[in-house]
Amino acid sequence: MKLAILGAGAVGQSVADLAGEYGHEVVAISDSSGAAVDPDGIDVERTLERKAGGDPVGTDGVDDVFESDYDVLVEATPTTLGDAEPGFTHVERALEDDRHVVLANKGPVAERYDELRALEADSRGSVRFEATVGGAIPVLSTIEDATPQAVTAVRGVLNGTANFILTRMAAEGLDYEHVLAEAQDLGVAEADPTFDVDGTDAALKFVILANVLADGGFSLSDATVEGIQDIPGSALDLAAEDGRTIRLIGEATRESVRVSPRLVPENGALAVTGTRNIVQIETRHAGSLASSGRGAGGPETATAVLSDVGRLPEL
Ligand code: HSE
Repeated sequence: MKLAILGAGAVGQSVADLAGEYGHEVVAISDSSGAAVDPDGIDVERTLERKAGGDPVGTDGVDDVFESDYDVLVEATPTTLGDAEPGFTHVERALEDDRHVVLANKGPVAERYDELRALEADSRGSVRFEATVGGAIPVLSTIEDATPQAVTAVRGVLNGTANFILTRMAAEGLDYEHVLAEAQDLGVAEADPTFDVDGTDAALKFVILANVLADGGFSLSDATVEGIQDIPGSALDLAAEDGRTIRLIGEATRESVRVSPRLVPENGALAVTGTRNIVQIETRHAGSLASSGRGAGGPETATAVLSDVGRLPEL
């Protein structure tokens, strides 16, 4: 497949780096503002130089991406809430041009799922979004294989940053602010980790899962969300006395989405450590399926993008 990539951050660059190994060709890449694009082919180095050099940004780069000869738009611009722009318009443009779309950007899938499916229904192209949930863990393809109608609920840990913070707080008896600073130093947490610690990032992923289970109807405003910012170290100490710990657990069903800190057995499956994620899929006739692994990172998320590309039909 010929890939056009919008978003030149860790995910977009990793897709560009790895595409050849999966038998695909990158024909264009731009960051979301169109700051850098090489219509003749991928030039990640130039993309970075231009970004670092602070060249004026415009929209020409994005237009060049759409004018390239591509089969699949990889939408990897930053997740935005509400109207999910500019990502949603990018997706709309590609589908109206009868091209496939693979998203790493959670915004359009969490906030405008029904519109996304309506656009897909009128297009020869298809939409896939494995990379929006659980990084390298094949969550959506597992649900697809199990058939969404047979899945009653999905629960687990889908934010690595919050999990890292809770793990360190429990293991070292450190307070929240200390561990957050450490996570930022290590590059585990973003410079602005607000959405990781307040539960928004995990909630977006569980909203996407609820949309898949119920075939739409959910957006972030339907989720009940509580983050980890107010958990004192003493709560983790108390939990440990009882053989338990605290994790930021989410659950999606056809009726609801909830993310909140919960007590879990210290040695149980949900008590994954560090930045790992875990997903438990409850099925109607076959019990529970579980997968655990790396839920974030450029190459990890790019793997999910390229797995989606591999599942697309020829146009
Ligand atoms: N920042 C997220 C995490 C990954 O820490 O898991 C992107 O959704």
